[in-house]
Parts: sequence; C-alpha cells; structure tokens
Amino acid sequence: MKEKLAAIINAAVSAASEAVDEKQIEDIRVKYLGKKGEITALLKNMGSLAPEERPKMGQLVNEAKEQVESAINEYRKKLKAKAIELKLKAEAVDITLPEKEVCAGGLHPLSIVTNDLIDIFQSMGFDVLDGPEVETDYYNFECLNVPADHPARDMQDTFYLADKILLRTQTSAAQIRTMENRKPPIRIICPGRVFRADEVDATHSPVFHQLEGLVVDKGITMCDLMGVLEQFAREIYGDDVKVRFRPSFFPFTEPSVEVDVSCTECGGKGCRVCKGEGWIEILGAGMVHPNVLRCCGIDPDVYTGFAFGIGIDRITTTRYKISDIRLLFENDKRFLEQF
Ligand code: DAH
Repeated sequence: MKEKLAAIINAAVSAASEAVDEKQIEDIRVKYLGKKGEITALLKNMGSLAPEERPKMGQLVNEAKEQVESAINEYRKKLKAKAIELKLKAEAVDITLPEKEVCAGGLHPLSIVTNDLIDIFQSMGFDVLDGPEVETDYYNFECLNVPADHPARDMQDTFYLADKILLRTQTSAAQIRTMENRKPPIRIICPGRVFRADEVDATHSPVFHQLEGLVVDKGITMCDLMGVLEQFAREIYGDDVKVRFRPSFFPFTEPSVEVDVSCTECGGKGCRVCKGEGWIEILGAGMVHPNVLRCCGIDPDVYTGFAFGIGIDRITTTRYKISDIRLLFENDKRFLEQF
C-alpha cells in the first residue's frame, strides 16, 4: 500500500510540476483530491480495511493528501508569479521610444496679419466691423459714386449672383452701411474677403482680402489721412520704411491717392520683387467724395472724411517674402507650418 501511495504522490507531483497554466493545475487537483479523486477514493475505502489497520492507513493517506496538496499549491503559486511576470513584460512601456509628435494648429498667415492690422487700428481708436460678402449693387457700387454704366465698373470684374446681387468686389461697401447706421464722429475698419472674376496667377486670385477704413468728422483733412497711414506703415514694416503718396483715381474719393512703401526686399534700390521700381503699392485711399457722404445723409458742408482700402494679401506676401499669392490659398501644410 505504501508503494502504491508513493507512486500516486510521485505521479501527482510530477504532473503538477509540468502544468503550464491554472487550468491544468486545477485538473490535477481534481484528479487526485477532488470528490472522485484517486486519494479521496483511498480515504473512502478506509471502511473496507481491518479496524486495526485503519488509523495507520488513515495517517498515511492523509500525509499523502497533504503532500500532494502542498505541491499543487506551490506550483500554482509559481504559475501565478510567472503569469504576472509575462503580463508585465508584455505591457511594459518602452521609455526609450521617441515621444509622439503633438500637432497643435496655428493661425494662417493671413489671419496673423489681419489680427496685427486690427491691433494697430484699434490702438488708434478705430472700431472693428463686419460686412456681408453677398452685397447689393447699391452698396458695392451705386452709393459709392459708381452708377450703372460708369466706366469705373470696368476696374473690377464682378461675380453677379442675380440681378443687382453680387459677391462684394471691395470692402468699401462697409463704408455705406456704416454711414447709414452711425452718426459722425465715425472711425471704423472692416477687414474681410472680397471677390473678383480674375484669372489665378502668382499675383491674382478670385478671392482676396481687404481692410477698409473710414473716418468721418468735422475738420478731417488729407493730413489726418497721411498721418494715420504713415503710422500704420511704420508699425507694419518698421520705422525705416519710406511711404509715398501718389495721386490716383477712385470714384468714391476726391482727391484720391495710392500709397506705396519702399520695397521690403531691396529697401528701394529696385529688384525683382518691386519690378525694379523700389516701391510696392499697398493701398488706395482718399478724401470721401461729397456724393458718397450725401448718399448716406451726411452733410458734406459740415463733415469731411477719409477712407482707405488695404490689400491684406499684399501686406502678407511682402512681410513674409512670399513670392506667389497662390501659396496663401492652397493650404499646403509644409507652407503653413512655417508660421
Ligand atoms: N476699394 C478700392 C479697391 O478695391 C480700394 C480703396 C481705394 C478703398 C480708396 C478706399 C479708398 O476706401 O478710399 O481697389
């Protein structure tokens, strides 16, 4: 009997030592110690033994049971420890890996420049207004002293949406809307998108951006216009920039000027960027035409004003030395990431 027990113990312990997971260990426990297990069967069998043999045998079988139990527990513990170790290895974080790149969005160069322009004019006391991109012929042309069939309409190729409804060709429409709704003193800017039926090339786009400015009050003169615009140019291009006022024509201003700054690339010597001129045109301006004031119910004998329209795209390309305006609209990440 002793040998039989020893054989059972041996078999159980060696099976337990070979178990590779919790399930196999449990199967071994059931096989030897479960209700119908081999060792349990021996205990159950005790009744068939002679009474004097029972205590001795009982002790032996119980010892065998304990031995197998403790072997199973020990291997079970080892298996658990091994499983934890494997899990930790599998879930380990490799701190030597390079970190994942965090991609934060940024402002488009046109937005950066528009925000800067807003800051500059706000610091001079201008309010910032918004105007609709779909305009009527009246606000975009007529009240700006450009009646139907006026030759000045040829200066702007227009997207018409319906009869007398169009995509605004200039932010100047905001002047009229403002003067209809506010009484002088008026000091406003209106930045925004404008549209013209232009072919796309390095310097033209059917969508571009302007910032309109308007000042109306008693006693406003050309000196105010020049002072404000010179200050603006210095803030954008630095104190060394030279500013030039050239006589020009716009139907809604009289007199009218175009404003140039010394070339940001060559400083005025003449280069490819300024086409050898040494100057770059950045805006149109002038004293508000009396017809425009009158159209908005403002008496030109009492009030005068000046207005200007800045090309935001031109300010952006000169400031960042961008050679092709299309880069501003293609949304190539490699370009945009530079700002
Ligand atoms: N609207 C003009 C343009 O698109 C720019 C301009 C010129 C605006 C003179 C003005 C101005 O307010 O007074 O070419």
